[in-house]
Amino acid sequence: MSILITNIKELLQVRDTNVTIVKGKDMKLLPTLKNAYLLIEHDTIVEYGIMDDFPGHEADDIIDATGKTVLPAWCDSHTHIVYAGDRSQEFVDRINGLSYEAIAKRGGGILNSAETLQNTSEDELFQQSLQRLNNVIKMGTGAIEIKSGYGLTVEAELKMLRVIKRLERTSKAKIKATLLAAHAIPKEYKENPNGFVDLIVNEMIPEVSKHQLAKYIDVFCEKGYFSLEDTEKILKAGTEHGLVPKIHVNQFNAFGGVGLGVKYDALSVDHLELMTNDDIHVLQKSKTMPVALPSCSYFLGIPYTPARAIIDAGLPLALASDYNPGSTPSGNMNFVVSTACIKMKMTPEEAINAATINGAYAMGVSNEYGSICRGKKANLIITKPINSYYNLPYAFGDNLIDKVIINGQMVS
Ligand code: NIG
Ligand code: FE
Repeated sequence: MSILITNIKELLQVRDTNVTIVKGKDMKLLPTLKNAYLLIEHDTIVEYGIMDDFPGHEADDIIDATGKTVLPAWCDSHTHIVYAGDRSQEFVDRINGLSYEAIAKRGGGILNSAETLQNTSEDELFQQSLQRLNNVIKMGTGAIEIKSGYGLTVEAELKMLRVIKRLERTSKAKIKATLLAAHAIPKEYKENPNGFVDLIVNEMIPEVSKHQLAKYIDVFCEKGYFSLEDTEKILKAGTEHGLVPKIHVNQFNAFGGVGLGVKYDALSVDHLELMTNDDIHVLQKSKTMPVALPSCSYFLGIPYTPARAIIDAGLPLALASDYNPGSTPSGNMNFVVSTACIKMKMTPEEAINAATINGAYAMGVSNEYGSICRGKKANLIITKPINSYYNLPYAFGDNLIDKVIINGQMVS
């Protein structure tokens, strides 16, 4: 099976060598080819170049992309798309004046989603999640990280992770699983939060690692959720079991979670709505990817991650959706890219780098995904005819995608 795309108005994120991360000033550079072609064989990008040099390849399918832009599919490195039901009632409660924190305090929020998920069958959970996954693929997402964290019991966390495994087997998209057992303190442990941390360390992590149900370990390191001390215990146990940290930090309060993540070689530290100078300095000496989640800031009305301060300090930055029922009921990476430009003053080049190659890095797949490079997987977005790639963030809320190719196959 081969696909040839010809007459591409502009081919974005073309990297002849296998770049796996882009930092600081380099994020402003988005290499492109104008009037290009691209050849896919099976699941792989095998050749590309400018039409003037087109050697006349044959292919099973030929797509004429006149007027259209082609770019790598989005790499969404932070989602919670496996959940049951929704929290639209809490959305309305917030409109009527309750805060996200107040809703959580009265037993809503993550605990509300956990109760619904515990009472949902594994098959039903799979069906609901698959629908969400297929939806985001149509919107151009080709690689996606998915977290547990709405189970909060050994049994329900394992159920979530098995659903993620089943999605992995069912879907053409690249999927990476994360154990986020430390997402909230369950009601039964309200008076004994350390008991829940012990359960995670002594039962959940060993069980998940034994059955290879996750690659990453996450903690919601936040006041009222998990302290630095809890986080450290969990990261230590996780790394001892071969899980790599990718953590929620600095969403509402900044108190050293970034440094702790770096200490445990976190692949990424995510949210970062609040950043201190110390956080920036500690990241400068690390290989950890900072990840911003602008749709979460938009939906909750909280500050946006200070992208300019991060990038101008020479750091890389990735963008992800945070798709979840409470703080971000949307997995639309096109909106994420737009919002990053509009609200965080990222240039279109920076935002596209952040949502492709750096997103791939933040989920450990940038050797195979996130750029147009010979030998990389053929996960691509073909846009409708547009004047330039500036239109992608500019025309916010518009669907500019014509076709999506995942793993060398057209998504219908
Ligand atoms: O990333 N911050 C923690 N977890 C999710 C929200 C969880 C929820 O409200 O259900 C987040 O925003
Ligand atoms: Fe999250």
